[in-house]
Formats: sequence, structure tokens, C-alpha cells
Amino acid sequence: MILSSSSLNKREAMINMTYHLRLVSLLPVLLACAVAWDSEPVPLPLVIWHGLGDSYQADGIKEVTQLAEEVNPGTYVHVIHLEESDGGDRQATFFGNLTEQVAHVCDQLASEPILSTAPAINALGFSQGGQFLRAYIERCNSPPVRNLVTMGSQHNGIFKFQSCASAGDWVCRGAEALLRYGTWSDFVQSRLVPAQYFRDPQEYDSYLEHSNFLADINNEREEKNTNYRNNLVSLNRFGMFMFEDDTTAIPKESAWFAEVNQTSGEVTTLRERALYKEDWLGLRTLDEQEKLDFKTVPGPHMQLTDKVLTQIFEEYFGPVEVDNGLPHLLVKQGP
Ligand SMILES: *[C@@H]1O[C@H](CO)[C@@H](O)[C@H](O)[C@H]1NC(C)=O
Ligand SMILES: *[C@@H]1O[C@H](CO)[C@@H](O)[C@H](O)[C@H]1NC(C)=O
Repeated sequence: MILSSSSLNKREAMINMTYHLRLVSLLPVLLACAVAWDSEPVPLPLVIWHGLGDSYQADGIKEVTQLAEEVNPGTYVHVIHLEESDGGDRQATFFGNLTEQVAHVCDQLASEPILSTAPAINALGFSQGGQFLRAYIERCNSPPVRNLVTMGSQHNGIFKFQSCASAGDWVCRGAEALLRYGTWSDFVQSRLVPAQYFRDPQEYDSYLEHSNFLADINNEREEKNTNYRNNLVSLNRFGMFMFEDDTTAIPKESAWFAEVNQTSGEVTTLRERALYKEDWLGLRTLDEQEKLDFKTVPGPHMQLTDKVLTQIFEEYFGPVEVDNGLPHLLVKQGP
């Protein structure tokens, strides 16, 4: 399935129009927004962050985009990309410094004409893209996210690296080779993406000291970042989906922020953890307001059917009355 050229043209026309309005003066932009966001319920724009080894132009991502538009007509979809080229974007899922990657995405979303003038956006993260979107919310959240859905994400990290699917995958092989320098070296932490969400409770001190990403966005260090908590608490809903037979993201319970003891296999659920009890990220607050969903999907990692996706799009990304539902967000949009 490929996006029809007519819908692409329409989108370009919309973008061009918004640019044009911006150039003329600020007032028409504000009026245009009021007109666009102040009437019938509309679906908010949807932002997608894809997973490891994928690219924003991959056929699977295009199919998901098309389905999102079919289920909730009028949905504007933006697929996050770190590089313009297909190969470069895929490579950036293995290599890079996540601090810089998340900052880049903050700039991308804040400068995208349609997203930045929307009262809010929805967000869908596939696998590692899920914890990265959460980092976007914690660190930037401008435009603000209303509903976040993460699929098979590694919110509590991984304690085992995925082996490459094929010997001919040189990008993946390169990442494996990098690991030889040691997970906790600055060299690896600044360059290898999965190492930055590696978390083994058996090596907790090294993790706290050296993790370039996860220990920070999970607010596990002594000094807590209250912005992270405040931004996550502003979510309307956070749906965490775990694949029942996931053998790729290890442990799969990480999708629900659970901690697993690699030796004994014992699972400590989110609600039993200090992260929750002391509400480092606002997850307890969200849970008490019934805004935190623990959901499962049958099957292995990221084996998604149209049926499952359709249900998710209906449940989380449907039309909303922007004027009544999100007045505070509209106020925030002021000049
Ligand atoms: C990652 O990038 C940030 C921002 O440029 C930098 O401060 C940090 O030291 C980098 N991480 C590592 C492990 O080098
Ligand atoms: C994991 O379980 C083993 C065996 O029960 C135990 O000895 C070890 O202390 C546990 N590790 C952690 C980090 O809790």
C-alpha cells in the first residue's frame, strides 16, 4: 500500500498555505487556527516514532499511516525521521546520542507548521520509539501530547541485546561490533542507541552512573526532574501495550515498566516499585486517575494486524471537541 498522490498533494497544499499565512502576518494564522480547531470534533494530528531497524519511508509505516487516516478521516500523520534519506533514518535507529536525537525531534515537531499550530497531538511509538516519545513529552512536550500509545516499548530498558536478524545486515553488525567496547563506556553510551536503554538490575550502580538516557528519563537518579513528572501527568491517556509472546524485547514486561530479575525470573510490577510509589514520573497519579492502561496484544514483537491497530486508533486517536475539551491548550497557543 502506498499513499495516494492526491492525498500527498493536499497535504503539501495545506503546508504551503500555513507557511504563506505565517509570512503575511501573525493574525491570520491565529484566525486560521481558531477556524480550524474550533468547530466540529476533529482528530488531532498523529505523530509516529518507528522502531529499531525501521525507516520512516518503509512500506509498513506507510500502511500504518494510511490506516490511521482511514479509521479517523482527517487525521494528519507525521512520521518522525532523524535523517531525510531512508538509509540514514534507519541507521539513526542504531547509532547516535539519544540526548541529541530527542532534542532534534523536539525541534522537528515544534517547527512543523501543522503540528505546531494544533492545540495538541496524539503520539504512537513502536518499540524503542515508545520510550523516545515519552522522552519527548518529558523534555519538551511542545506541541503537547494528548494521548500516548506505546507498543512493545522498553520503558524499563532491556537486559539483553537483540542479535542481528541476518549476517548481511551491516548496520546491525556494526552496532554489535561497537558493543565490544563495553556497554557502560562513554564511547558506546554516546553512539549506540540500544545501549542507552540497557538496564540490568544486577548492574544497577553502573547503570545509574553511566546510562546516557534511561536512568535520566525514568528519573531514577537522586535528583528528580519535576518537569518530567509534570509533563507526563498532563497526558489525557497513556496506553502501554505489551506483546504476549515477545521474545525480541527482553524482558517483554518492560513494556509495562515492570522489573524482571534475570536469574530468578521474578517480575516486580510497576505498582510494586519505588518509581511508582514515590511517583517519580507521575505514573501513579495517572493510574489513580484511570489514565494509565496496561494492555496486551497477542503474538510476537510488533506483529500487528490491521484489526488491532484499528481498535487502538478508534480508542485513542478518535475525533475530539477541541474547543470544549482542551481550552487550556488553546490558551497556551497564544503569541
Ligand atoms: C550526548 O550528547 C549530549 C548533548 O550533546 C552530551 O552532553 C552528552 O555528554 C553526550 N553523551 C555522551 C555519553 O557522550
Ligand atoms: C535475583 O534473584 C536472585 C536469586 O533469587 C537473587 O540472588 C538476586 O539477589 C536477585 N537480584 C536482584 C537484583 O534482586
